[in-house]
Amino acid sequence: MASATIYPVIWHDNKVKLIDQTRLPQRYNVVEISRCEDMAQAIRTMIVRGAPAIGIAAAYGMYLGAREIKTSDRHKLLQELDRIAQMLRETRPTAVNLFWAISRMLKTAYETLGTVEEIKATLLKTAQTIQQEDLETCQAIGDHGLSVLPKTSEKVNILTHCNAGSLATAGYGTALGVIRSAHRENRLQKVYADETRPRLQGAKLTAWECVQENIPVTVITDSMAAHCMQQNKIDLVVVGADRIAANGDTANKIGTYSLAIVAQAHNVPFYVAAPFSTIDFELSSGQQIPIEERDTAEIYHLGNTNFQLQGAEFYNPAFDVTPANLIAGIITEKGVIKPENLLDYHTNLRIKE
Ligand code: MRU
Repeated sequence: MASATIYPVIWHDNKVKLIDQTRLPQRYNVVEISRCEDMAQAIRTMIVRGAPAIGIAAAYGMYLGAREIKTSDRHKLLQELDRIAQMLRETRPTAVNLFWAISRMLKTAYETLGTVEEIKATLLKTAQTIQQEDLETCQAIGDHGLSVLPKTSEKVNILTHCNAGSLATAGYGTALGVIRSAHRENRLQKVYADETRPRLQGAKLTAWECVQENIPVTVITDSMAAHCMQQNKIDLVVVGADRIAANGDTANKIGTYSLAIVAQAHNVPFYVAAPFSTIDFELSSGQQIPIEERDTAEIYHLGNTNFQLQGAEFYNPAFDVTPANLIAGIITEKGVIKPENLLDYHTNLRIKE
C-alpha cells in the first residue's frame, strides 16, 4: 500500500487544522478551527470540501461543539448535541457522508453510558476513528481500482473530473486514489484533469496534488473532454461521488453527467470510485438526491473580472446525477460492484453481518 502525503484535516494541539482549499494552488494556508460554528462556516465556504473530507470535518465539529457545553447533565448534553448536529447538517445538502458522519457521532453519544466527560472523550475518539477508517478505505479503493485498468502492456491515460483526491478525503483519495495506485504500479501514462467550472477544483486542486507527487497531469477545460476521447487520448474515466442512490445513480460535481454521456459515445469505460459511506440506500433513485445550488457569483466572478450582465440570469447547480446505465462499475473498498448489483450486494452483506 502506498502512503498518503496530503492530509486536509489534522487534529493537533486540541484544534483542527484545515488546509484552506480556497487558496490553493497559489497559497498553502492552514486554518485553525476550535469552535463548531467555525467548522460549519469552513464547510459552507469550502475551505474544506469533498464528500468524505466534509464528513470528517463535521465529525470533529461535533466534538468541538460538545466540549464547549458546560453541564454535567447527560440529558442536557445530548439535547445540545442535537442542535449542533442540525447546524452542521445545514451546511451542504448533497454529499451524504456529511449526514452519515454526524449520525454516527450522535449515535455514539447516545449509546455511551457514563459521565458527560466520558461522552466527550468518546466523541473525539470516534472522529479520529472515522478519519483513520477513511484513509484505509481510500487505499483499498485505489488498489481495487487496479482491476479495472485496461489489460494491455501499455500505460493508461485516465481522465478525472473535479477533485476526488487526498484533499477531498482523509488522504489518498477515491478517484485519485485509483490514479495513485496506477502510478505506483507503473501503469499510468498521465492524468487528464477536467478544469471543472465554476470553482476549478480540477485545475486548482487535482493538478496541485499530482504535481506534489510527480504524477504526470494535463489540465483541460471541461468542453475538451469529447475532443480528447475522439483523438483516442483517454483510456478510462474515473470520478468520485457525493451520493449514490440504491439503484447506482450517482451525484457528483456538475459536469460529471455530460462526461459520462461523452464517454459512452466514444466507448470509453466510465467508473465511479467511492466508499460505502457515500451510498445512500434510503434513496431508490438519483432523482431523490438533493442538489446544492450555490451563489451565482461563482460563475460570473472569474479572477478579478466580474462579467455579471444586467438582464441576464445565472444558474449554478453544484452537482448533477449520472444515471446508473452510464456507469461501468463502482469501485468501493469492498471491490468493484456493478451499479445494478449494489442493492443485492448490500442485502447479502447485512445478512452475513
Ligand atoms: O463541491 P465539492 O468540491 O465539495 O465537490 C466535490 C466532488 O464533487 C467530489 O468529486 C466528491 O465529493 C468526491 S470526493 C472523494
